[in-house]
Amino acid sequence: MRKLLIAAVAAFTLNLGAAQANSGTYVPEFKDASWSFEGFFGRYDQKQLRRGYKIYSQVCAACHSLNRVAYRNLSALGFTEDEIKEIAAEKEIRLPYGDAGALLNDDGEFFTRPAIPADKFVPPFANDAAAIDVNGALPPDLSLITKARKGGPHYVYSFLMGFMDEVPEEVMHQKGFVLNEDKNFNIYFPGYYNSMPPQIMDEMVEYEDGTPMTGEQHAKDIVAFLNWAAEPELDHRKSLGLKVMLFLLVLTAMLYALKRKIWANVKH
Ligand code: HEC
Repeated sequence: MRKLLIAAVAAFTLNLGAAQANSGTYVPEFKDASWSFEGFFGRYDQKQLRRGYKIYSQVCAACHSLNRVAYRNLSALGFTEDEIKEIAAEKEIRLPYGDAGALLNDDGEFFTRPAIPADKFVPPFANDAAAIDVNGALPPDLSLITKARKGGPHYVYSFLMGFMDEVPEEVMHQKGFVLNEDKNFNIYFPGYYNSMPPQIMDEMVEYEDGTPMTGEQHAKDIVAFLNWAAEPELDHRKSLGLKVMLFLLVLTAMLYALKRKIWANVKH
């Protein structure tokens, strides 16, 4: 019995050791970035969200879906109804069948219709299999990515900025580290090797509001946009929180005054 137990523990430990190859034991602190939406009084910066949306739509949308966001949600970024209609209409939604019930039209293509503001963002691939086939791994849906990863926006920012051409010494000499020439090294990604090519570079999209077009700024802006996608109600929630606090403060003051009044004539 004892032998069996030792064997089980040994097998477990060995297994753990195997799983630790490239499990990212050395991970530096997240890169420093701060956003307007942090803290109790923090709010989104609408201009920043618009810049982030531009990056998403011109770069990330080629591989990543944003399934939980609808075109009409873009009104929160200051887009007008007409602008939103136009943005949506540029995308085609695939229909399961045409009017006559046929799967394909006369040209052998799927039936489609232009998207409308009520539609969710149209994904770049028909399904996960197609996305994996093209990219070598599944580009995750980005709707909740800032909530899905430990470190939230700080992780996503560091991940975007964490691609490296050279493997740093600390990692190279780490036990169990295996070089992989086919994938991209990212110091913040668990296991280090990643199927996404580095995306962030200076002037990757053009800004019209005069904001500097540096890689860091682009990364900050796209992460702010993704945080909004995951938590669009943040501004409202914080405003409400503030109002509730004020209300409680006033109520407490009033109750205290009332208590003093009621007890004023009671002799001690
Ligand atoms: C050419 C396709 C492509 C483009 C463009 C692209 N990605 Fe990716 N991305 C991927 C793939 C593939 C993965 C999955 C990588 C893996 O699991 O190895 C990924 C993974 C991610 C992850 C998840 C990392 C994790 O912790 O799992 C984030 C966040 C991300 N991408 C953000 C972005 C952002 C933001 C942009 C736009 C600036 C972008 N990506 C552009 C292909 C792409």
